[in-house]
Amino acid sequence: MKYDFDKLVNRRNTNSAKWDSQAKNYHNDHLMHLGVADMDFVSPEPIQTALRGVIDHGVYGYTDVDDAFYAAIQEHYLAKYGLKIPRDWIVYSPRVINSAAAFINTMTREGDGVIINEPCYSPLKDAIVTNDRQAIPVPTKFDAGAWHMDFEAIEEAAAQPLNRAMFFVNPDNPTGTVWDEAAVQQLMNIAAKNKILLFTDEIHADLLKAGIKHHSLIEFADQYDQIIVANSLTKSYNIPGLEISYLIVPNEQIRETIQTEFYRMEIHNPNIFSLPAFSAGYRECGDWLKAVNAYIDDSETLVRDFLAKNCPGFVVYPRQGTYTLWISYRDLDVTAEKVQNWFLNEVGAEIYMGNAFGKYGDGFIRLNIATSQILLKEFLAGMQEHYRDLIN
Ligand SMILES: Cc1ncc(COP(=O)(O)O)c(C=O)c1O
Repeated sequence: MKYDFDKLVNRRNTNSAKWDSQAKNYHNDHLMHLGVADMDFVSPEPIQTALRGVIDHGVYGYTDVDDAFYAAIQEHYLAKYGLKIPRDWIVYSPRVINSAAAFINTMTREGDGVIINEPCYSPLKDAIVTNDRQAIPVPTKFDAGAWHMDFEAIEEAAAQPLNRAMFFVNPDNPTGTVWDEAAVQQLMNIAAKNKILLFTDEIHADLLKAGIKHHSLIEFADQYDQIIVANSLTKSYNIPGLEISYLIVPNEQIRETIQTEFYRMEIHNPNIFSLPAFSAGYRECGDWLKAVNAYIDDSETLVRDFLAKNCPGFVVYPRQGTYTLWISYRDLDVTAEKVQNWFLNEVGAEIYMGNAFGKYGDGFIRLNIATSQILLKEFLAGMQEHYRDLIN
């Protein structure tokens, strides 16, 4: 194998949010950590080479966004979506979640409602609520083997005058759904009809199961321009610690409003390491991305088959993208508290409980499988060994 994704790198004592902060949270230095959404894999070699170049130079001064940043994004959208993105539509932002908060602060007013599909990646909901707006959750529904947005409920919410915006996550975290072209189109129609500002978070767009195609909201920009696309490659190449992302904003007024908010917060000079890593990622790491996606597909099969055979009642729901699995335990007659304690104290693993993604996530866990299959097998063996204790 060209890339050794089985190799488990020890991340303890590296200030890792996934391994160290969660160990502190649970006062346990021996847990397996399968929660926080980063990968345990080393980043592709071209990114490491780019970073070494910065280290070797030895001067780490203030840095400005370079031409390669814009060009790499334009090349990416042309190759992946066949779209020519004008350079001036692109806005640098450290993190997608900074962009979400800036959007809420500038494009909505206190008390406004912001529609979300729920279960929902919780920092997006936090960006709404902590800024004194109202989160308007619409439950995502499971039917005929797939998750569906409840368009009727979204349309009803969109028609309320106080509800001015919507967060839309595609691929969806936590369900792992990649919303298809028809679904994105339908959402666009609702947004356009009701003058809803549509902010889409596409950070997982490169992490796709074999055969799945992602449709960016930006493909629909000629129909309605009150849209904002937030994206990055930090998930794709496992560099979220470098903090670099971007927005694509076709509407000039919205773009300037958000850009002004970034200036107001003095967000402009990126981390010196982030830029070379960014362009190396989009330009030189496509082969690694294919390989990591294939490994994740394999890992999904491993978990799905193992649980079906050895831990019935844990059901892996369909995944089309992301590197997390949304696993139901609704068929088991157990509380969320019991499940969490069982994972922590018996299996020896920290995973995310579904209710961290809102009440509609109750009865599920989210499992991050972007790790060595050796660790996954250890985790699964722990589940099998202690399964009886959970269900009895
Ligand atoms: C859907 C989604 N959006 C945003 C983020 C965070 O992105 P950033 O680190 O750029 O804020 C995550 C990380 O888990 C995510 O899953």
